[in-house]
Order: sequence, then C-alpha cells, then structure tokens
Amino acid sequence: MKRSIITTSDGSKTIQIGEWNEQYHSIHGAIQEAKHVFIKMGLNHFLELHKVKSMRVLEMGLGTGLNAFITALEAEIRNLHIHYEAIEAFPVLKHELSQLNYPSLLANKNQESLFETIHDVSWATPNSITTNFTLTKVQQYFSKLEYFSLFDLVYFDAFGPRVQPDLWTPDMFRRMFNALKPRGVLVTYSAKGSVRRAMQSVGFFVERLEGPPGKREMLRATKPA
Ligand SMILES: C[S@@+](CC[C@H](N)C(=O)[O-])C[C@H]1O[C@@H](n2cnc3c(N)ncnc32)[C@H](O)[C@@H]1O
Repeated sequence: MKRSIITTSDGSKTIQIGEWNEQYHSIHGAIQEAKHVFIKMGLNHFLELHKVKSMRVLEMGLGTGLNAFITALEAEIRNLHIHYEAIEAFPVLKHELSQLNYPSLLANKNQESLFETIHDVSWATPNSITTNFTLTKVQQYFSKLEYFSLFDLVYFDAFGPRVQPDLWTPDMFRRMFNALKPRGVLVTYSAKGSVRRAMQSVGFFVERLEGPPGKREMLRATKPA
C-alpha cells in the first residue's frame, strides 16, 4: 500500500495510507497525541501509582518510532530504566524516516541521534539505546504474540478498528491481558464502544478518559491485582 508523509496540526509529520484514509497518528497533532495518550495517560499515570525505578513497556506497532523516542526521552528526564519491547510486522523505510521531523521538535542536539539509533539497531535482541532505555524490536504479527505477566504498561497503537477490526477483538485483548503483570495498564487512542466491551470481556477494568486534541475520549484498561 502506498504511504506518504503529511504534516499534522501541531507541525509534526506522520505517515498516511491514502487507500485506507488512515494515518499513523492523529492529523490533529502527531506529537500531541503521543504525549497525551501514551505518556500522560499511560506512563505518567503508572508512575504516579507505582514508585518503580525500572519498568517494562510493550508497544503494539513501532511504526515511525515516535512513541519509543518520546519514552526514551522521558526515561532520561525521570532517571528511570525502561525496557521497551516494540512489535512491528511492516517496518517503516529509511527514506520515510528521514522525512519525519521528530528529533528537531522534541530533542536537544545531544539527543537528536537517538531517533536514528532506535531504527538502526538490530531486531530480535535487546539494544541499549541510552543508560536508561533498552529496546527490543520484534518483527512479528500481533496475532502471534504469547507473553505471560511480563509488562507493566502496553501502548496499544494498531491502526484503527475501522480498517483493522481483527486487531481490536477479545482474542487480541486477552493476549494483552496475559502479557501484563497484575496492576498493569494498557492505553489506546480508540474510545469505540466495541473496543471497550472487548477489553471488559477479558477482565480489564476500563476507564474512558479525555482524548487528545481533536478526539473526545480515549481508553485506559487496568489488569486487576
Ligand atoms: C498506528 S501505526 C503505529 C504508530 C506508531 N506507534 C508510531 O509511533 O509511529 C500501526 C502500526 O502497526 C503495524 N501493523 C499493522 N498491522 C500489524 C500486524 N498485524 N502485526 C504487526 N504490526 C502491524 C503497522 O505497520 C504500523 O506501523
């Protein structure tokens, strides 16, 4: 499918799949969405509840690496160690990555190269990106994942249920539920009723929260203790 680079409302770029009329991020602001959904409602929320020095994050859909990059920068600010595992079946190409403006918008001069490092490191092995951020990239289909009680936080960032309904099912959320430790948290930008019910049906406690700019609501699911 043809992918092109577009500029979103906050000035940050994203990738668009024209055929699907679907983007890797919100057209109302890629960086604003990532910071709101995954950092504010996910990472910050988890760290407010749990005073940990080290944690494990699973990302469903590495894509452009924006969420991984912002999380690596947060790990520096907080002096926290994050083990980050990112799943991706269709890696973004080098010439697409070179058109994304996240390093100049988000990082200082010393940190800008982290974005490239995230993409350059090898797949299937843990890579130390900074002293605070270890990244394992896994090139695999979401439907093949079988993790048990490994992660504190899941960033569920698949394409939307309109275009990939098979990724928003009870079966998929059962895999996420199993992947999380007790009290683990999953965040996603979708607020669809069927998604919320799929999460609840596998045992998650689900909250509807204020969404990022341009979106009324989002969802946060917590695995009971
Ligand atoms: C919404 S984008 C992810 C955006 C990403 N988190 C970012 O910050 O750029 C969804 C991602 O899921 C990947 N994907 C789609 N279907 C998949 C599948 N069945 N298994 C694994 N990855 C898939 C896509 O290639 C895409 O990179």
